Amino acid sequence: MTYVVTSACDGSKYQDCVAVCPVEAFKEAETYLVIDPDLCIDCAACVPECPADAIYADTDIPDSEIEWLDRNKDEASDLPLAEGDSPVLA
Ligand code: SF4
Ligand code: F3S
Repeated sequence: MTYVVTSACDGSKYQDCVAVCPVEAFKEAETYLVIDPDLCIDCAACVPECPADAIYADTDIPDSEIEWLDRNKDEASDLPLAEGDSPVLA
């Protein structure tokens, strides 16, 4: 399994999630982050940190957010590591 960032992150980008991730699994797009499923160790530490409630286990994503499962997986490898210090957009 993996954890997945969903649409509530897009345009918010609080980045509270980044600091608690023990394996630097977050990658950064312009308006949101994604989680690299090859790096995520399923610790769930990031879930309660997100003010937008954007992070779900892949087994628990709402149907309306299911496209984000592939977006995290497909986009993560081409994006830079999230440092957690970009401007918050919300
Ligand atoms: Fe990082 Fe854990 Fe969140 Fe995976 S579940 S992205 S390892 S903090
Ligand atoms: Fe996005 Fe929430 Fe992290 S808004 S940047 S998943 S803290």
